[in-house]
Amino acid sequence: MIYSRIAAVATASSPRLLKAAFSLDPAKRILLYSGVVQHYKFCNYYVIVSRVLEVFRNAASELDPKLAVNPGPYPVSSWGSWRHPGRGGTRASLLLLDLQDRKKGFAVPRKINVALIGYQFMGKAHSNAYRQMSCFFDSDAIPVMKVICGRSEAGVKAAAAKYGWEEWSTSWEEVVRRKDIDVVDVSTPGDSHMPISIAAAKAGKTILCEKPLANTLGEARKMLAAVQKAGVLHMICHNYRKAPAVTLAQKLIADGTLGKIHHFRGTYLQDWPVDPEFPLYWRFDKVKSGSGALGDLASHVTDLARFLVGEISEVSATLETFVKERPLVDDPKKKGKVTVDDASLALVRFANGAIGTIEATRFAPGRKNYNRFEINASKGSLVFNLERLNELDLYLRDDPAYARGFRNIMVTEPVHPYWKWWPAGHIIGYEHTFTHVVYDLMQAIVQNKQPSPNFEDGIRNQAVLEAMEKSSKSKKWVRV
Ligand SMILES: NC(=O)c1ccc[n+]([C@@H]2O[C@H](COP(=O)([O-])OP(=O)(O)OC[C@H]3O[C@@H](n4cnc5c(N)ncnc54)[C@H](O)[C@@H]3O)[C@@H](O)[C@H]2O)c1
Repeated sequence: MIYSRIAAVATASSPRLLKAAFSLDPAKRILLYSGVVQHYKFCNYYVIVSRVLEVFRNAASELDPKLAVNPGPYPVSSWGSWRHPGRGGTRASLLLLDLQDRKKGFAVPRKINVALIGYQFMGKAHSNAYRQMSCFFDSDAIPVMKVICGRSEAGVKAAAAKYGWEEWSTSWEEVVRRKDIDVVDVSTPGDSHMPISIAAAKAGKTILCEKPLANTLGEARKMLAAVQKAGVLHMICHNYRKAPAVTLAQKLIADGTLGKIHHFRGTYLQDWPVDPEFPLYWRFDKVKSGSGALGDLASHVTDLARFLVGEISEVSATLETFVKERPLVDDPKKKGKVTVDDASLALVRFANGAIGTIEATRFAPGRKNYNRFEINASKGSLVFNLERLNELDLYLRDDPAYARGFRNIMVTEPVHPYWKWWPAGHIIGYEHTFTHVVYDLMQAIVQNKQPSPNFEDGIRNQAVLEAMEKSSKSKKWVRV
């Protein structure tokens, strides 16, 4: 309850509360205040306001029941709960707070030191997730942004300062060996997933690896063998499973609302390299990336198909490379060969009898990040579109005939998955799916059980991708 008083000190929303808060021991007051200030630095302003509103109410009811009034325009119950200020605060102040808490027998979250390898696109998305998680979610483990790693000293140094990492490094080999690191996050191109993950497993670290798990099924198998031998926790970052609407879709399927699934229709469309002058960077190089749209986009759709419908047993696919050569990154006057697909298109059969399509392309002008699926089943249908990720369209055949039609569910209520963010209807976006990944990872660490999805999912996914490649070459159906 001591944290409740932070709010009173910070907001000064009520003169009576303020007086009560100032009756605290002055040393504690200063420490608590510094905790709040630090949260201002790391969290979104609105997070602080929402936290403060709720703890204000807690403090109010504790100090004087008459003060337990709704403090703001929003229903307080939708703000979630607040148990600990989490990461933040000066190190000295947090240490002292922890010591005080431990003495009093309060549960103090475990600090989980993270090393993030890769600092660009996914490096930024994961950094944001580590920073935000404990601002919104209560967990008995909270990530500490210990060290970020990349190849360019200037780049990684700047990223560390910008994203809020304590340290930076240019050697992942050194970082994964560090005794003070608990989690290694592999956010580099596919060719380095295997060496980094295997070294991290040998060093006993929990691993979060970006998708696809590896560049080949063979590499992915070696990675799974390494984490199983080492007995460490492992997770693959298929973040779209963690969009609340997708998790809700899975629930509606698992609880039988939708009935027996007949069709899965998944598309993931982008358009960024349609211009043939777009340079030949690592995503067009099979050695670095394993494949093109297949591993980049179809792997996400495959994960959604597996998550929602079940295992894929057979595929018939075609892959195409529309632009065969592109300008070299370092010497744009020269061209180099594109060695991956620009698009992949597959018919799939599921083990449970459902059939589906998985289409992925980087050549759909106007489609920026169009990740959409439709599921048709015996009792109804479901539609999700990442570009409207707070919504799920549901059609149920059991509805009265006069009211039948697709209903649009805003998946933003406190009853919905991962809804610890804002009051109902205050929508979230792409980056929040990564925060949900980090939250699930922290919960898995607390419970010491494998997170989901993990390297086993990564392997099954990779097996589907490999079957699609084989099918494209042989022009035949291929069993997974
Ligand atoms: N989950 C998703 O939605 C999603 C989205 C995009 C990319 N990804 C995956 O994330 C991974 C990274 O993709 P990205 O888009 O962030 O790439 P990027 O090019 O933006 O960043 C790659 C980073 O890896 C670093 N790096 C490369 N080789 C390294 C090495 N040997 N040692 C240390 N650092 C190294 C680079 O310095 C860079 O910081 C890929 O596996 C990709 O498929 C996932």
